[in-house]
Amino acid sequence: MSASEIVTTPGSVEGIRVERVITRGVFALDGGEWEVDNNIWLVGNDDEVLVIDAAHEAEPVIEAIDGRTVRAIVLTHGHNDHINASGELAKATGAPRWIHPDDRMLWDAEFGDTPPDGDLADGQIIEVGGLPLTVLHTPGHSPGGVCLHSPDLAVLFSGDTLFHGGPGATGRSFSDFDTIVASITDRLLTLPGETLVLTGHGDSTTIGEEAPDRQKWIDEHDD
Ligand SMILES: [Fe+2]
Repeated sequence: MSASEIVTTPGSVEGIRVERVITRGVFALDGGEWEVDNNIWLVGNDDEVLVIDAAHEAEPVIEAIDGRTVRAIVLTHGHNDHINASGELAKATGAPRWIHPDDRMLWDAEFGDTPPDGDLADGQIIEVGGLPLTVLHTPGHSPGGVCLHSPDLAVLFSGDTLFHGGPGATGRSFSDFDTIVASITDRLLTLPGETLVLTGHGDSTTIGEEAPDRQKWIDEHDD
C-alpha cells in the first residue's frame, strides 16, 4: 500500500536504520473479519535486515528490503494479519520465520501443516548488523505475543501488546486483559521513558507517554 518510511529513533547506532511499511488487509478471528492497516518494521543496515511481522502483502516489504539479506522474519504473534504474508516473503528472501510456540495454534490456523522455522523465547537475543535485540515474551493479546527491545536505539517493537493509547485488544479467543496488563506493567513500563514504541497498528508512542495511564486502562476496561 505504501512505500517504506525511515523512522527517527531516540538512540542511534552507526549504519542501523528502522523502516516502516504499512499494508492493508483483513484480520479474521472467531468468525469475524475486520479491515486493518498493519505496520511492518525493518531494522538493519545496508547488508542485512530483520523483518518484524509480515502482514497482508509481501511485495512492498520485498521492495523495502531492497536486495538485503533477511536474517529472519520475526512474528510478534500469530494473528493472521501479522503472519499472512510471511510465506510469500520467506519464499522470496529465503529467510526463516520465527514465532513464540505459545501461538502455534494461531500459526496452524493460517499455515496448517507447514511448521515455523524456529521458536522465539523470552530473553533470546537476535542480532542484525551487529545490533542486538532482546525478545520479551509479553502474553495477553495472545499467549505467544512478544516484543523486541533494542536498548541501543531506545526502541521497542511492541506488536499488538502496547499501542498509542493502551493495551492491545483482549476481547477475543486466547486473549486475557489481566495477563496483558501484567506483561505491560512488568516488562514494558519498566523500560526507560524515552523508549520509542513502534506498534503493530497505527501511531507510535513512548513508554513515558503510556505509563501514567495504566490505572485508567484498568478502570475503563470492559471486555
Ligand atoms: Fe493481533
